[in-house]
Amino acid sequence: MKDELTIAVLSAEEAGRHLADLASLLHACVHDGASIGFVLPFSLAEAEAFWRGKVLPPLGAGGRILLVAWQGGRLVGSVQLVTDTPPNQPHRAEAAKLLVDPACRRRGIGRALMAALEAHSLALGRSLITLDTRSGDKAEPLYAALGFATAGVIPGYCRDPFDGRLDATTIMFKALPVAP
Ligand SMILES: CC(C)(COP(=O)(O)OP(=O)(O)OC[C@H]1O[C@@H](n2cnc3c(N)ncnc32)[C@H](O)[C@@H]1OP(=O)(O)O)[C@@H](O)C(=O)NCCC(=O)NCCS
Repeated sequence: MKDELTIAVLSAEEAGRHLADLASLLHACVHDGASIGFVLPFSLAEAEAFWRGKVLPPLGAGGRILLVAWQGGRLVGSVQLVTDTPPNQPHRAEAAKLLVDPACRRRGIGRALMAALEAHSLALGRSLITLDTRSGDKAEPLYAALGFATAGVIPGYCRDPFDGRLDATTIMFKALPVAP
C-alpha cells in the first residue's frame, strides 16, 4: 500500500526537533543541483546552521510559516511562506525554498506543498504570492502549472552551486482568488 502523504505546519519548536531531517533535505537538494542559495562545498553542518540561524528565528517571531511533507514516517519535502512584508504590502507573502527529496520527485509532493501554502496564505489574508526561481529549473513548469505568471527574468542573478556560472532568475507571482 502506498504511504499516505501528509502536509503539516511546524512551529519553531517542532522544527528545532526535526533539524537533522530538515538539514538532510536541504543538503540532498543542493547536492542534486538545486539553485536555492548555496554553492558547493556545502556540508550537513552548514545546512543545519541555515535552518537554525535563518529559519527558526523568523518562525518563532511569526514572520514565516514552515510547511513540511511527511510520507512513510520520513520528512520528504518543505516550503516556506514569508509573511514579514513591509506595511504597504499586508496582502503579499513570498514562497521560498520549495524542497522535495530527490528520491521522492514527480509524485505530486511539490504540488501538494504549494497547494497547502496557498491555502495558508489565503487564510492569513495574503492573496498575492511572489517568488523567484532559477530560469529553466524544474520548479518553473511546476509554478506555471499552478497558475503563477512570469513577471520577468533577471540575467546573471545567482551562481550555479557546482560550477559557479551566473544563471538568470525568473520572478513569478499569483493573485489568489479572494471570496467576495
Ligand atoms: C521543483 C520540485 C520542488 C518539484 O517537486 P516534485 O514533488 O517533483 O513536483 P511534483 O511531482 O508535484 O510535480 C508537479 C508538476 O510540476 C512539474 N514538474 C515537476 N518536476 C518536473 C520536471 N523535472 N520536469 C518538468 N516538469 C516538472 C510538472 O508539471 C509536474 O506535474 P506532472 O508530474 O503531473 O507532469 C523539486 O524538483 C525540487 O525539490 N527541486 C529542487 C529544489 C528547487 O529547485 N526548488 C525550487 C526553488 S524556487
